[in-house]
Amino acid sequence: MAGQIPQRFIDDLLARVDVVEVVGERVPLKKAGRNYSGLCPFHQEKTPSFTVSADKQFYHCFGCGAHGNALRFLMEYDKLRFPEAVEQLAARQGIEVPREGADDPRAQARERKRQEGVNLLELSASFFRERLKMPEGQAAREYLARRGLSSEVQRDFGIGYAPDDWEALKRHLGQRGIPEPVQVEYGLLVHREESGRTYDRFRDRVMFPIRDVRGRTIAFGGRVLGDAKPKYLNSPETPVFHKGRELYGLFEARQANPRLERVVIVEGYMDVVALAQFGIRNAVATLGTSTSEDHLARLFRLVSEVVFCFDGDRAGRQAASRALETVLPQMIDGREARFLFLPEGEDPDTLVRREGAAAFEDRITCASPLSEFLFEQAARGRDLTRVEDRERFASQVLKAAERLPEGMLRTVLLGELSRRTGVDQARFEALMQRQEEPSPHLVVEESPRDAPLPLGQTAAAEPVRAGKTAEAGGRGPLGPVARVVQLLVHEPALIERLPDGDDWCPVEDADGELCRELVRLLRAGRYRSPQVLLAHFQGSESGQRLAALARRELLIPRETRSRELEGLIEYLQRHRQRRSPQEELDALLERERGGERLSMEARQRLMELLMELKR
Ligand code: UTP
Ligand code: MN
Repeated sequence: MAGQIPQRFIDDLLARVDVVEVVGERVPLKKAGRNYSGLCPFHQEKTPSFTVSADKQFYHCFGCGAHGNALRFLMEYDKLRFPEAVEQLAARQGIEVPREGADDPRAQARERKRQEGVNLLELSASFFRERLKMPEGQAAREYLARRGLSSEVQRDFGIGYAPDDWEALKRHLGQRGIPEPVQVEYGLLVHREESGRTYDRFRDRVMFPIRDVRGRTIAFGGRVLGDAKPKYLNSPETPVFHKGRELYGLFEARQANPRLERVVIVEGYMDVVALAQFGIRNAVATLGTSTSEDHLARLFRLVSEVVFCFDGDRAGRQAASRALETVLPQMIDGREARFLFLPEGEDPDTLVRREGAAAFEDRITCASPLSEFLFEQAARGRDLTRVEDRERFASQVLKAAERLPEGMLRTVLLGELSRRTGVDQARFEALMQRQEEPSPHLVVEESPRDAPLPLGQTAAAEPVRAGKTAEAGGRGPLGPVARVVQLLVHEPALIERLPDGDDWCPVEDADGELCRELVRLLRAGRYRSPQVLLAHFQGSESGQRLAALARRELLIPRETRSRELEGLIEYLQRHRQRRSPQEELDALLERERGGERLSMEARQRLMELLMELKR
């Protein structure tokens, strides 16, 4: 990278460009009042719910929640990384992007090197693809057909064939002026010290290009056509490829669905492509290593949910324990991790072929939430009727909880532990505090999608959502106002969807006051995460109610939440108009008789109604 772009430059740049223009060049827009509207480019729709505001200089889609400024739009629409989006905006204005430390020759050399490698790897990838189509690729084509891969999937994943020849690629690249040492450096050519000879690393193998998130080929995996060993050969570590960091299939998953929310992590290349063949296009594979912190950090920047997929055997269980350890510190609110165990002797490839896509999807849907897996693992081999076993069970869960960042998931987890052991939750919290450094501040993760100007972010975190854990609040259906509160506390960004004012919110509803207060706080813009909201209300009755609502899972996918919210508001508005003053009065009186202390607003409304009815 060629040095950081100064923030001031970015601010100035944004002040100069017009988001309406930038968006308008790519999406047909119509003026609608003070805003512009059109069909959202980020999801399928027939009626426009995508708006661009010239005043506020951002776009917003009421259908899918896409939201941001001009830079964010370019990143999402043109699939650019942050610095590239800045470059593009600057180019429109005819200005050059300054870089901090731009004249650092080492940084420049690094950048040149990266470019060089990527070109070479791209050349190789197309070489392999062409060879697959030629007569010499016949056996490979047959192999791929035997494994059930259609030409579409082969094309989407750029699958190719390395011919059975010691120097085919070397000749090809040599003719294009690529020096041998460079080919060696990027792992395409093997150099034998003893003889000084060089030869193609990949021979007579089906070739899977490994691409980075932007689709640039950075390495290869090659599979033998038969049973020879090694089954898979991978590129070595090179200047552009670090095995412990890359995920096979991530680029392709994002291509298939730009608004990807969940990925399934599997083991092998074939698992990824076989699932894609069956229409499950969100699988990624670690490249023969276990899932690293780096992997997860990268994934969680793009999606809010990961589902780990493991073999059902002992080794699979061990791998799952490791994955759990790795994922715990990353579980800030709004993220979700789940664990899927396959029947013994199956991998996703064999299973999806045997059962079909729907059954496999069901398995994904039913995968254990992190909390469930954690409790199950801690209870394994223990008899929880015995005090000592219960103690060990609790210690194990507590140890895991300590690794969780502060937030809803941790709170709910301790609540559940308390329920299962009969020990007061406060005791667990005290135990944990004693072991931690004295920094009991709340971890507040502002989601960049919520922030008006998501600058300096290279990728979007997703809106905040409560962890999917065991139920701790009351059951039973919620009234419409309570549901609005629940939606807002789980996903504060939804505040954008509410109409101005709060007339729709009935004062006489038991949750009316809480709802109005919540709306007021969210509009004031300071509270944008569930933890902070809960902290605000802590210690009051409203606080308990809010916490109970926060603990209840939403149970509906994110895409439908805004629609549900809008539906609820409409319902409340209609209802309000239809309700007679007498009905409203009765509702208020009933609450008062029930011993509730009415709010100022409610009492005032009561007075008005009494007067009105007397007349
Ligand atoms: P598996 O041995 O489970 O293979 O390795 P697979 O994915 O089921 O492959 P098929 O179905 O036999 O074709 C899982 C992953 O481990 C890495 C590869 O990334 C592979 O996809 N691996 C495996 C290697 O890197 N080298 C090997 O020799 C074997
Ligand atoms: Mn397999």
